[in-house]
Amino acid sequence: MTNPTPVLHLLLLFTATAAVAVFLLPIISAATFDDPTANLSTSWTIGPSLTRNITYPDGSTILALLVRGFFGPSFAFGFFCSSPCSSFLLSIYIVYTDSGSSITNLNSDPPQLIWSANRQRPVRLNATLLFSPSGDLILRDADGSLVWSTNTSGEGAASLTLLNSGNLVIMDNKSNHFWASFDHPTDSLLVGQSLKQGQSLTSNSSTNSTQGQFFITVDSNGLRAFIESNPPQLYYAKPNASSSAKPQNRSAYATFQNGSLDIFMSSTHPNSPDYSISLPTSPSTQYIRLDSNGHLGLYAWNEGWSFAQQVFDEFPDDCAYPTVCGHYGICSNGQCSCPQLKNGNSDYFTPVDPLKINSGCNPAASISCRSNESIQLLAVDEVSYFNYIDQSSSVMRTTDENSCKEACLRNCSCKAALFRYNGDLTTGSCYLPSEIFSLMINNPQNSHYNSSAFLKVQTVSAPTPESSISTGTSSSSGSQKMGIIIGVISVFVFAAIVLLVLIFVVRRRRRRRAQEEDEDQFGEIPELQARFSHDELVMATENFKSKLGEGGFGSVFEGTLRNGTKVAVKRLNGVGRAKTEFVAEMTTLVAIHHINLVKLIGFCYEGDHRLLVFEFMPNGSLEKWIFNRTHNASLDWQTKCRIISDIAKGLSYLHEGCKQRIIHLDIKPQNILLDENFKAKVSDFGLAKLVDRDQDQVMTRMRGTVGYLAPEWLTSVISEKADVFSFGIVVMEIVCGRKNLDNSLKGEVHLVSLLQEKIGEDRITDMIEGRENYERWEEDEAVAMLKLAVWCLQTDSGRRPSMAVVVKVLEGGLNVETNVDHNFFTAATLGKNDAACWNDSNSSMPTASLLSGPR
Ligand SMILES: *[C@@H]1O[C@H](CO)[C@@H](O)[C@H](O)[C@H]1NC(C)=O
Ligand SMILES: *[C@@H]1O[C@H](CO)[C@@H](O)[C@H](O)[C@H]1NC(C)=O
Ligand SMILES: *[C@@H]1O[C@H](CO)[C@@H](O)[C@H](O)[C@H]1NC(C)=O
Ligand SMILES: *[C@@H]1O[C@H](CO)[C@@H](O)[C@H](O)[C@H]1NC(C)=O
Ligand SMILES: *[C@@H]1O[C@H](CO)[C@@H](O)[C@H](O)[C@H]1NC(C)=O
Ligand SMILES: *[C@@H]1O[C@H](CO)[C@@H](O)[C@H](O)[C@H]1NC(C)=O
Ligand SMILES: *[C@@H]1O[C@H](CO)[C@@H](O)[C@H](O)[C@H]1NC(C)=O
Ligand SMILES: *[C@@H]1O[C@H](CO)[C@@H](O)[C@H](O)[C@H]1NC(C)=O
Ligand SMILES: *[C@@H]1O[C@H](CO)[C@@H](O)[C@H](O)[C@H]1NC(C)=O
Ligand SMILES: *[C@@H]1O[C@H](CO)[C@@H](O)[C@H](O)[C@H]1NC(C)=O
Ligand SMILES: *[C@@H]1O[C@H](CO)[C@@H](O)[C@H](O)[C@H]1NC(C)=O
Ligand SMILES: *[C@@H]1O[C@H](CO)[C@@H](O)[C@H](O)[C@H]1NC(C)=O
Repeated sequence: MTNPTPVLHLLLLFTATAAVAVFLLPIISAATFDDPTANLSTSWTIGPSLTRNITYPDGSTILALLVRGFFGPSFAFGFFCSSPCSSFLLSIYIVYTDSGSSITNLNSDPPQLIWSANRQRPVRLNATLLFSPSGDLILRDADGSLVWSTNTSGEGAASLTLLNSGNLVIMDNKSNHFWASFDHPTDSLLVGQSLKQGQSLTSNSSTNSTQGQFFITVDSNGLRAFIESNPPQLYYAKPNASSSAKPQNRSAYATFQNGSLDIFMSSTHPNSPDYSISLPTSPSTQYIRLDSNGHLGLYAWNEGWSFAQQVFDEFPDDCAYPTVCGHYGICSNGQCSCPQLKNGNSDYFTPVDPLKINSGCNPAASISCRSNESIQLLAVDEVSYFNYIDQSSSVMRTTDENSCKEACLRNCSCKAALFRYNGDLTTGSCYLPSEIFSLMINNPQNSHYNSSAFLKVQTVSAPTPESSISTGTSSSSGSQKMGIIIGVISVFVFAAIVLLVLIFVVRRRRRRRAQEEDEDQFGEIPELQARFSHDELVMATENFKSKLGEGGFGSVFEGTLRNGTKVAVKRLNGVGRAKTEFVAEMTTLVAIHHINLVKLIGFCYEGDHRLLVFEFMPNGSLEKWIFNRTHNASLDWQTKCRIISDIAKGLSYLHEGCKQRIIHLDIKPQNILLDENFKAKVSDFGLAKLVDRDQDQVMTRMRGTVGYLAPEWLTSVISEKADVFSFGIVVMEIVCGRKNLDNSLKGEVHLVSLLQEKIGEDRITDMIEGRENYERWEEDEAVAMLKLAVWCLQTDSGRRPSMAVVVKVLEGGLNVETNVDHNFFTAATLGKNDAACWNDSNSSMPTASLLSGPR
């Protein structure tokens, strides 16, 4: 590395941007291919002998046996395992191949599974797939047990071939197919593939690879989607009215084409479909998949896999998916709730998981048919059920409301009486399901019908009077019991109803007002004083006159508030958060107070403007004090020591002291600010979240700054230990007075590597900047500080101390662990190659084609 070329420097700059991820991830491996065909008597055993072995950034692994490759998305047949890799599916998937005819994980999207043989029974390491001499394809698990077979032995098979279409076929020497994967669909359809009568697409389970609960069939009624139950419940039909169906001799089928899903039901027009759902066309690979939530999605490749469209057309709305709110959950505009009595009493149903309201509701007591006197029907007005598309089918009966309810009470497996009518309670359709999935709010104005649900519940104690359960209709049966008492009760009931109605109206109004406020530009938020208008900030900064600096998220300007407080105003770029989220985030950050954190005073969210107002830090960033040699007043050791301790305390508070753990993700000297007394404060915390937040706290895109990034950015699971790593780098930089990765020092090694070298030679003191002015004990402290840094820099994030432990060490309460893995440098050889590339032992340097690849 004596003569780095300008190109490499450009690369270095390039990597300093968010693009880092794009070319760090793909270099992990590449495997050559190109054989779409296997001859008879071939066998494959899961293990090291399978060399087309690729692990994707999400941890999923493929072992490809046959590959049909082009440049771009290509089909492959082989084994697949998801992370953590413990069991394998024999599958067909779409992978990415490059111009060098190899499968790569250039695109960080995992392989797309479009077919698998053994969803219900994954196999283990050492399982064997055999294409037998007699032409049978047989999968046996490691213990030799038969898992799956095509049963094609003795039919004259000659080869197993993966066709261009993604269809895996067993054929004879004249290309006749005996067996085709297209005839055994799992949850997906490829272009040109048909779903035939008698076949079904079955979703994958939401929790594991086994078969899920949704399925789609085609028959003389058309295309229909069901959720598994006893009997299955219909939630989508094309065409929607089954009465038009006539029995046909020819079997029906649906074909997925580039641009449509065509449904053929009648023999009269063999070449024109009876119904067609139009879909967007795609110039590249696409597929349709029945997802584990019951949605039928069209997925298309466009420099990465993306969801293109819902295939179910004329679908009412998301509330009509059976599992959207779980069992018994009532869906309204995508919000879930549990059934309640009108007085708000929710004793009969409780959320399965109060923190995840869409997980459904549990009846308070399970329904026992033996004691049917304590069984009642809980009426929920204007609640509908998804399967009403199937009105004319046999599961529906035309009847009146009371008969519908009685029929349910009489039948033990009935869990609710669902009654739909048109203003007249004496005629309507009645449905008695044996399992209740999500319910939805019915709006009679839009739907032009009324709909009531009577949910069977078990009263736990003594049966409550019928009136407490608002049955909607008051039946006249058994009325004369206790004349006078009834009179008294009805007065009370009347009073109670008036009260309930009042409460309901007030609540509703309050809820509506809450919604309106949310949409209001200047709605009330808890910390109103934290909110600034744009004009106020223009005034405070004299129209952004004096720029203090440029940070990772935007420029910072000096300003003075009306009350005379000096502030720093940061103008954010590229923060596209929705308002409620932004405000919520900011409200959290405003509430954080710690002496070693730069105080967020307030913010502005107005039109396109996103501004943050921070306390003003007169001595600016740490960067200019530790790297800038021309600065006449360089910091003495004690100040440096105090600064390090301050940073540690600030970070420790973020990691453990706040209600919500905050991972900074961009710790570097530029983000450490100094007040007039050189007290250090961490700034810009909580902002990484604004730009990209993943639900599970697992960051999917790279953040931060090259030179400070922890190695686990490669393996994708990021924790607060990434901040500990960056802290280690900063400590090292403070002690050594030099940047870890310094573009201006041409040809010089990277600071971390230098530290490794010096540790090896036991000359660690060489690293300490300005030690000629240090006392002996100061030098000893500096060495101890470097050892602390090394502790924080270990590749294995689990071995790094927490910030709380670091604080303890700095306060003298603990010693630095001596058993430190000095091999941390393997992960940090960034500068050596002048490109941000951690040299993994399995990886090679990116080739030019990879570097300039798509994205
Ligand atoms: C399959 O057999 C054909 C001849 O029958 C041969 O040319 C080809 O190389 C064989 N393929 C493999 C992968 O062994
Ligand atoms: C895949 O390859 C890696 C190393 O290249 C190896 O550790 C792993 O065991 C292989 N996986 C299988 C299933 O052979
Ligand atoms: C797979 O086979 C190898 C060698 O035959 C054996 O060492 C290993 O224990 C086996 N693994 C499993 C999971 O059966
Ligand atoms: C093959 O035959 C076995 C036993 O007859 C049967 O269980 C299995 O489902 C068949 N496999 C296929 C793919 O038809
Ligand atoms: C094709 O297979 C049949 C029997 O399976 C055999 O008789 C015939 O010779 C084969 N033809 C060729 C061209 O290999
Ligand atoms: C898959 O998940 C279902 C429930 O979602 C469970 O019943 C089943 O045991 C799971 N199967 C495996 C192999 O984990
Ligand atoms: C099944 O679906 C889950 C999530 O819906 C997904 O994580 C998993 O990879 C899928 N598995 C298969 C075999 O498609
Ligand atoms: C079927 O769909 C059409 C078109 O959206 C609609 O006009 C018709 O009312 C629907 N029929 C039923 C029974 O829902
Ligand atoms: C359908 O089948 C019936 C008898 O199964 C036959 O009489 C009729 O002609 C067939 N119709 C068509 C259109 O093939
Ligand atoms: C799909 O159709 C569109 C429009 O007809 C066409 O541009 C595109 O190339 C087609 N895609 C494929 C994969 O053939
Ligand atoms: C309770 O069940 C018995 C038989 O199981 C039935 O005869 C009776 O009508 C039921 N009572 C009610 C109120 O449904
Ligand atoms: C009871 O209800 C179930 C479904 O809820 C239905 O399948 C069954 O036929 C009903 N039994 C009677 C006797 O109506």
